[in-house]
Amino acid sequence: MAKPIYILNGPNLNLLGTREPEIYGADTLRDIESACEETASRAGYDIVFKQSNIEGELVDMIQEARESACALIINPAAYTHTSVALHDALKTLDIPSVEIHLSQPAKRESFRRRSYVAEAVTGTISGFGANSYQLGLQAAIKLL
Ligand code: DQA
Repeated sequence: MAKPIYILNGPNLNLLGTREPEIYGADTLRDIESACEETASRAGYDIVFKQSNIEGELVDMIQEARESACALIINPAAYTHTSVALHDALKTLDIPSVEIHLSQPAKRESFRRRSYVAEAVTGTISGFGANSYQLGLQAAIKLL
């Protein structure tokens, strides 16, 4: 049995559905998880889907993925723009890794233009709403 694909979510993404829906859409994180489960299972993979508001917990999840995952997808949310710790943890991976965003940070406030994560992952997908998760999953599966 193949190892699962880890899908990690950073701070405030637990509020999707009610948080700034004009930017992030109406889907809840649970809706997104179900859609990911379906896409992954059609390709023969299980997923492990997690969310944390705490930077160190996300570092722990990435370290767990080093051993337990075949690929990693991460929406680091606000930590994208601040976290050297997530950058360093992602650099330790030798599995495919995809940074995803619902919105297109490059079109928003200037503080969102810097991603510490982009320099440490295989590739980035952003701006497609909840569909960014599907596209990220497809990109990871193609690399497996
Ligand atoms: C986000 C974009 C980030 O800039 C923001 O802090 C988020 C969500 C996105 O998915 O569009 O919380 O990662």
